[in-house]
Amino acid sequence: MTVTVGIDKMGFFTPNLYLDMRDLAAARNEDPNKYLIGIGQSKQAVIPPTQDVVTMAANAAEQFLTPALKAEIGMVLFGTESGIDNSKSTAIYLAHLLELPAETRAVELKQACYGATAGLQLAADFVRVRPTAKVLVIGADIARYGLRTAGEVTQGGGAVAMLVSANPQILALDPVTSYHNEDVMDFWRPTYRTEALVDGKYSTNVYLDFFKRVWRGYQDQTDLTIADFSAFVFHLPFTKMGRKGLRQILPSATEPHQAELTAAFEASQADNRNVGNLYTGALYLSLLSLLRHQTMAAGERIGLFSYGSGAEGEFFSGTVQAGYQQGFDSTAIDQLLDRRQRVTVAEYEDIFMQRLSGDGSDAHLAVGNDPAEYRLTGRQGEQRLYQKR
Ligand code: COA
Repeated sequence: MTVTVGIDKMGFFTPNLYLDMRDLAAARNEDPNKYLIGIGQSKQAVIPPTQDVVTMAANAAEQFLTPALKAEIGMVLFGTESGIDNSKSTAIYLAHLLELPAETRAVELKQACYGATAGLQLAADFVRVRPTAKVLVIGADIARYGLRTAGEVTQGGGAVAMLVSANPQILALDPVTSYHNEDVMDFWRPTYRTEALVDGKYSTNVYLDFFKRVWRGYQDQTDLTIADFSAFVFHLPFTKMGRKGLRQILPSATEPHQAELTAAFEASQADNRNVGNLYTGALYLSLLSLLRHQTMAAGERIGLFSYGSGAEGEFFSGTVQAGYQQGFDSTAIDQLLDRRQRVTVAEYEDIFMQRLSGDGSDAHLAVGNDPAEYRLTGRQGEQRLYQKR
């Protein structure tokens, strides 16, 4: 008997500060419409020093975890490209912070923005052979390109947490998937750098080429065509990127269907537009955004395109489950976004520089202004100190 496997629950976290893209455009002498329309971003998460990928992941997972669920988790797969240690994984820190059982397999996965998709697919295969298992999959990142760089407008940060199980509440994953990799230098971050190196225009072209390729590969393996899809969600380093992806395939749909797919895209970019780039989590925030901002019927199929520079791309799909809205807390996400404070460009620039120093010295961080449940309080003896309220 085939087991239905997929995403059972989802949680999202982004810190309490944001920068308005109109303010950034004014400070950088750019037309605001370049950022708002040309790039497609309205707000960008600003990450205080008291949040890192571990605390953001814990804050996202806490949105749906209960003590009973925690006791059932058998594996933690943490996708990130802004990890905090080259040896010890963020998954171990997270498992400890969330008080998960010691009998848990915990590991970090890296392939640029593709890490969480690797986690999701590995989790799904794990559950297919162990149908009672539950896996916590994370996509958490801080997107940093640097002050006054071309990539600055595409920064952001946050975490998406997903629980993968049999008979999922949100999205049942179709077993067919299409993936492709090539050794390209479109975006990378050598271990000595805190900001990424990127050839943004080249990366856009590789992304679009990979999407065409894996979408074709997916269709070659199935009888499905664009007519079988109610929505496509994309990895969104900035929302214009997914819009360009969708435009590549829209001409193959009927006119009314083109309008439906475009409306679904608008829903799927709404939250990303207000948070910015999450790297590994961006595709999954987009999925959450679609499910939060558009009502879908059980059985409708969603196509997902994941892309991680360097590069790995994958196209896969899933069907929406009845009662999917119970799998996430939309009100909590609205509150998280609505209660954020707007910072000035000068404040953002100051916060951007306030990271833990690279020399390993002791530090005590002022956590008083950070309302999150899990926070980074500092570093002592070259060890990060975390705190749950
Ligand atoms: N009104 C509306 N649109 C405007 C505009 C205005 N006043 N001014 C410019 N634009 C449009 C441009 O036409 C362009 O649109 P297009 O891409 O559809 O042609 C868009 O805004 C961006 O302008 P551009 O001059 O290309 O911007 P840029 O040179 O500053 O670079 C990126 C933009 C996205 C390449 C850059 O921010 C970047 O490298 N980001 C990182 C991307 C990344 O992370 N890639 C790897 C992960 S997939």
